[in-house]
Amino acid sequence: MTPTAKILLLGSGELGREFVISAKRLGCHVVACDSYDGAPAMQVADAREVFSMLDGDALRAAIEKHQPDHIVPEVEAIRTEILAEVEAGGFHVVPSARAAQLTMNRDAIRDLAASELGLKTSTFEYATSREELAAAAARIGFPLVVKPVMSSSGKGQSTVGDADGVDAAWDYAAAGMRGDRLRVIAEAFIDFDYEITLLTVRHKDGVSFCPPIGHRQERGDYRESWQPAAMSGAALQSAQDMATKVVDALGGHGIFGVEFFVKGDEVIFSELSPRPHDTGMVTLISQELSEFDLHARAILGLPIPAIVAPDASASAVLLADRDAEDFAITGLADALTPPNAQTAVDARIFGKPVTRPYRRMGVALAKVAGGTTDDARAAAVSAAARLAIAYRG
Ligand SMILES: Nc1ncnc2c1ncn2[C@@H]1O[C@H](COP(=O)(O)OP(=O)(O)OP(=O)(O)O)[C@@H](O)[C@H]1O
Ligand SMILES: [Mg+2]
Repeated sequence: MTPTAKILLLGSGELGREFVISAKRLGCHVVACDSYDGAPAMQVADAREVFSMLDGDALRAAIEKHQPDHIVPEVEAIRTEILAEVEAGGFHVVPSARAAQLTMNRDAIRDLAASELGLKTSTFEYATSREELAAAAARIGFPLVVKPVMSSSGKGQSTVGDADGVDAAWDYAAAGMRGDRLRVIAEAFIDFDYEITLLTVRHKDGVSFCPPIGHRQERGDYRESWQPAAMSGAALQSAQDMATKVVDALGGHGIFGVEFFVKGDEVIFSELSPRPHDTGMVTLISQELSEFDLHARAILGLPIPAIVAPDASASAVLLADRDAEDFAITGLADALTPPNAQTAVDARIFGKPVTRPYRRMGVALAKVAGGTTDDARAAAVSAAARLAIAYRG
């Protein structure tokens, strides 16, 4: 059979794995790439390539070898100049090479959102030295959040309470950054009521939204997410308007995870991923078409039906706490036993070959018919707590 389309997936983590499953269901051939063999998405793909996606020559070689119809980035850390180059040569980069380039760096996407599009963000400045950071801190005030412009999952990010903490924040950012550009963003700490991810699909017929997802972060990484996040109509409208502006400016088709902080009816744009979002794993249970299904449909130019999440749903992560190669994930039968007839429980075990402290190894999912998101959160947290990592040796 000739596949529906040939996809080269750049990054093969748990989000890539679910995307591969969605694309395979629609008849695609998927080549999964990552820097190590046996990565989660490789286990369910047609073929694999092992190389660092920051290695431009290796990336170009993989694209030339496989001649994909769609190049789908799953991670930020990619030599994005190559994506721009191959896009100019006629390859299709999802959602666009420009989106991959602008979102890889916090300063690039912040400049677009705040300066070009006029979206409300926290007050921010950039700094390229200790002295510049101290001067920026004096102007913005405290608490101050300091992040390397190139980093993700909270790496190198810290909140500074007063001027004495600035040096340590600089050192922490320098140690946690990716790439070779020592530059940080310093932004005012927002004392938000809650934060959301607004999954936004840009597709052939326009822009669609998933119901907003609430989440709780620890150490810059998500622990729990739930859907729908309770929001005023005015706040939701404002988030949807901002998301539309930013995805239209980035262009292309696919799903975007647009992150906002919300305080009352005031909505503050934070950042976005031009791809499925980790907090969006809740859609694996909440929606008929998950964020991965929606991404695949949008990329393939297929219709996007009305998106609904009928029951309150939640996800809770399973984290490792040490380095290990010999381990098993236990407790699945217990975790998947629903606490009552209204609650459905599910899980994803990612199949990562090794553990590391704080590495996400799986996620528990729950939805409660006729219940609240608090009920769903309690069920997801309790299911995740029944999962365990049995380390051997
Ligand atoms: N200015 C701020 N005020 C208050 N909290 C913040 C601020 N910036 C970041 N945070 C908190 O830190 C979390 C991670 O920040 P951000 O999304 O900018 O970093 P990240 O490394 O890209 O994280 P991820 O990759 O998990 O999305 C946010 O979801 C929020 O909880
Ligand atoms: Mg974030």
